[in-house]
Amino acid sequence: MSKIIRWGILGTGRIAQDFAKGLQSLPDAKLWAIGSRNLATAEQFGHQFNISKTYANYESLVKDPDIDVVYIATPQERHKQDCLLCLNAGKPILCEKPFMLNAQEAREVITLAREKRLFCMEAMWMRFMPLVQRVKKSIDQGEIGTIRFLTADFGYPVPFDPKSRFFSQPGGGALGDRGIYLLSLAFYLLGEPNSVTSQALFGETGVDEQSSFILNYAQGQQALLFSTLKTYTTNEAMIIGDRGKIKLADPFYRPYQFSVTKYPDIITTGVEQKTHSQKKFIEALKQNSLIQSFLIKLKNFLAQKATKTIFSPPQGNGYHYEAIEVMQCLRNGQLESQIMPLDETVKIMEWMDKIRDQWH
Ligand SMILES: NC(=O)c1ccc[n+]([C@@H]2O[C@H](COP(=O)([O-])OP(=O)(O)OC[C@H]3O[C@@H](n4cnc5c(N)ncnc54)[C@H](OP(=O)(O)O)[C@@H]3O)[C@@H](O)[C@H]2O)c1
Repeated sequence: MSKIIRWGILGTGRIAQDFAKGLQSLPDAKLWAIGSRNLATAEQFGHQFNISKTYANYESLVKDPDIDVVYIATPQERHKQDCLLCLNAGKPILCEKPFMLNAQEAREVITLAREKRLFCMEAMWMRFMPLVQRVKKSIDQGEIGTIRFLTADFGYPVPFDPKSRFFSQPGGGALGDRGIYLLSLAFYLLGEPNSVTSQALFGETGVDEQSSFILNYAQGQQALLFSTLKTYTTNEAMIIGDRGKIKLADPFYRPYQFSVTKYPDIITTGVEQKTHSQKKFIEALKQNSLIQSFLIKLKNFLAQKATKTIFSPPQGNGYHYEAIEVMQCLRNGQLESQIMPLDETVKIMEWMDKIRDQWH
């Protein structure tokens, strides 16, 4: 494979623009070709990003022999046909999230990629953020002990438009657009759950405009997750262990900072046994408002002291991190990423299917 990797992009929408900007920051990547359903849009995009080749349909782009890998930036309901088109033309693929409409589609695409020995990856850009990687490492190293909870939410309001990809069927809804990040984060940090409980609220187009789910794990962990198209939420993620907690700041999927709070040993090893009279004395002290406010200040001070904040904003718009992973895999002859493996993509789609099954 040539030193410079040549990318083709299918679709000219919002995410294609962002990804193209991300690619422009990589000296070993070349935005080689753009494919649109119409020539004028392709030419406009091509002009904007100084792209060598513009194609007026997707079928022509995948025939370009100089393209090393295709990024699929079309709506979810087209992912299967666009992935199959690329793979059948012999092109490795990076396909936007959610990978497919359901697990069956994901299996079909991945089976073909494996048969043809072509690289394939779901574009779950969050996993490649340097701070998400650091949080994963610190959890795996046991920095906050045994994990008990993951809480995360994803929401900002989207103006209602029944024709937009957010509200139209198939493919619309909060779970597909946002819940997928929550599920992918839970899989990345905690692995596969053993059960799920979910509820959703539906809008007039029938998509889940708001949905929540709780994942249970065999190791005694729980993930409490919710997403919405209707309002802002905290957009933070908190991982709670028995020796501390980690908070990924808003937006957790493209974090600029995270904080680690270590619980004092007295909390984690159990409070020493007090006599009855000691307990009564402490309770009496707590009734005093001056002592109460002192204790609150002391608690906040100790919490602050126990918290380490790591501030390190992602470079650029952050989309280049997943592109770097793709290019590394291509150069190493790897057919999939170890950070976003294909079997996990299928599993995540299976759990999305299970969640949706509970709604009907
Ligand atoms: N990773 C992220 O941060 C992120 C953010 C937003 C979206 N996404 C994902 O990226 C995908 C695209 O989202 P987007 O926001 O970029 O959507 P978008 O702005 O609507 O763009 C989608 C593009 O796909 C092409 N297309 C092909 N068939 C289409 C159809 N039937 N209807 C509409 N467009 C069609 C169009 O390009 P042409 O007209 O040029 O063919 C269109 O511009 C979705 O899977 C979404 O979940 C990911």
